[in-house]
Amino acid sequence: VTGRTPFIAGNWKMNLDHQQAIAFVQKLHWSLKEAKHVEGSVEVGIFPPFTDLRTVQTLLDADKISFALGAQDLSTKDSGAYTGEVSGAFLAKLNCGYVIVGHSERREYHDETDEVVAAKAQAALRHGLVPVICVGETSEDLEKFGASAVPVGQLEVALEGLPSEADIVVAYEPVWAIGSGQAATPEQAQEVCAKLRDVIAAKLGPDAAQRTRVLYGGSVKSTNIASFMREPDIDGALVGGASLVVGEFAAIVRYQK
Ligand code: G3P
Repeated sequence: VTGRTPFIAGNWKMNLDHQQAIAFVQKLHWSLKEAKHVEGSVEVGIFPPFTDLRTVQTLLDADKISFALGAQDLSTKDSGAYTGEVSGAFLAKLNCGYVIVGHSERREYHDETDEVVAAKAQAALRHGLVPVICVGETSEDLEKFGASAVPVGQLEVALEGLPSEADIVVAYEPVWAIGSGQAATPEQAQEVCAKLRDVIAAKLGPDAAQRTRVLYGGSVKSTNIASFMREPDIDGALVGGASLVVGEFAAIVRYQK
């Protein structure tokens, strides 16, 4: 028993506008209720686009739905003349508990470096948000350096200078497994997640390594989730495509059944 509450998080990416989000969240809530999913046994998180957050927050509040809410990115800055940016302060005000930082799509399409990712993790923590720090190797990295060297290096930079009590989540997402239908094997994912936990221990200390949740992401589905969750160092999943289908996401949340 690890004492870590499993975390199943849906990263919607640039999908579902705020009207579609209402219907989706209501359906997901009812689907889990109907299946008698026990609240609290698994933490369910949803990460909609910025423009949905206010609507979803209002709905979660009104209907007393206990999903955790998170954003997909934030600014390194807190306020000011930064056109197009969204600060952690604004996200905290919308009751976001989490924010994804360093997703491979931001690293790839927005040139986010390890240092930018570290600054974003710090910005999140300044505003009481838990950063979900994403790391992972491309297929070229995998060929050249093996699976763990790149994600380990990325996490080392992201954790540099954080206090030992920092509340973070780490997500291991091999880039070659994202949206490809080809998930890592549970054994491969476990091996890297264990090494990432070692990095947390080295940078933030053994207590942090024990309490911090490490997620796997990359083509997670209802048919493979249980095999990942059986691994000792995998505490949940960051789900992309399958988080957009109510029945499928609900089945992933209910992986124990
Ligand atoms: O952040 C989650 C994501 O990158 C994984 O996507 O579609 O492979 O589940 P997908």
